[in-house]
Amino acid sequence: MKNMLVTGGCGFIGANFIRYLLNESDYAGRIINVDNLTYAGNPENLADIEIDYPDQYIFIQADICDGTRMAKIFADYQIDSVCHFAAESHVDRSIVKPDAFIQTNIVGTFNLLESARSRLDHLIRFHHISTDEVYGSLGSEGYFTEKTPYKPNSPYSASKAASDHLVRAYHKTYDLPMTISNCSNNYGPYQFPEKLVPLIILNALEGKSLPVYGDGGNVRDWLYVRDHCTAIWKIMKQGKNGEIYNIGGNSEMKNIKLVEMICDILDEMKRLTNNRSRRDLIDFVKDRPGHDRRYAIDFGKLSRELGWFPEASLEIGIRDTIKWYIKNQKWVGRVKSGEYQTWIKTHYS
Ligand code: NAD
Ligand code: DAU
Repeated sequence: MKNMLVTGGCGFIGANFIRYLLNESDYAGRIINVDNLTYAGNPENLADIEIDYPDQYIFIQADICDGTRMAKIFADYQIDSVCHFAAESHVDRSIVKPDAFIQTNIVGTFNLLESARSRLDHLIRFHHISTDEVYGSLGSEGYFTEKTPYKPNSPYSASKAASDHLVRAYHKTYDLPMTISNCSNNYGPYQFPEKLVPLIILNALEGKSLPVYGDGGNVRDWLYVRDHCTAIWKIMKQGKNGEIYNIGGNSEMKNIKLVEMICDILDEMKRLTNNRSRRDLIDFVKDRPGHDRRYAIDFGKLSRELGWFPEASLEIGIRDTIKWYIKNQKWVGRVKSGEYQTWIKTHYS
């Protein structure tokens, strides 16, 4: 792989993946990062990468829903591999306004597949990043495997399921070389503070209320984003053409327990001025409609076939994440105020 197209590289996982590829992995080719910079895309996440890797890193502000533009980028940059992250990713937003989810997650993926199809001779791998939410919800027992039937419950997960089917269909019909990974909830540096972990960390730091949906008994399997990145790169290099791999963090936890864990770690690091326990800030609020009760991932296939295992324990990963948010208060301030959007305009005009 010499010319890798990474879509959505200015978002949370995409930025971590580009940082991992260039700073830590054995990848020696170019990365062409295509991102249209929605509210969730922040090129400041890669500002140092732009400076440190001028020959290896290229940023293009473009929308994957623009098929003509995508085809031109594939041809101009001789794209030979794709790692496709770009998506609308927040379940609550998909419930309020699903439109963009259908456009970006389904039509955008279709456009990339069409561009890839027109250059099949040059393409080594199309890797599609997906989610465990396509499998629906589990009861108190059992795990999602790669054979679990799809049963998505939100507009977000339904749009991701549709994109997975398209990628697989292009393999069966046109011989597109592809892999798909379905992973569990990521957390770590650079995550936009609408998702549970950064939202709770930042509210708890400021002594604000901590919204927990429903009874807080919903379970997620938490995956440290760096572990996700090592898994993706392993799959891109060694994964079998046409295969699907589940990625999990081996860290199932009820939401309420996770929120309490964050409260206790923060209390230990930095007491609130009134010496109040942060657990007192927890507020049980109205539940999310169609809220999936439990996700749990069996990633045995990835471990057995490619020797991957997550390194971070949940407690260590959460501690490191909390430290990152405390240390990067300027980034937090700019993201929360929307000021980073101004930074984008001045930097890329
Ligand atoms: P994110 O919302 O932080 O970032 C998405 C990025 O895609 C942003 O930079 C945004 O600007 C860009 N983007 C959105 N629409 C675009 C368009 N039309 N054209 C070009 N770029 C566009 O998302 P994330 O949390 O980093 O998730 C990345 C991928 O991983 C998504 O496909 C998501 O479904 C999947 N995923 C995420 C998680 C998680 O826990 N965050 C778990 C499983 C799977
Ligand atoms: O499982 C993978 C998925 O994980 C990804 O595909 C999605 O892109 C990603 O957003 C994430 O989806 P979730 O809905 O699980 O993540 P979120 O952080 O929004 O919520 C995690 C859990 O916490 C969920 O059960 C809802 C709950 N929650 C969330 C928020 C934002 C709360 O209780 N309070 C909150 O304020």
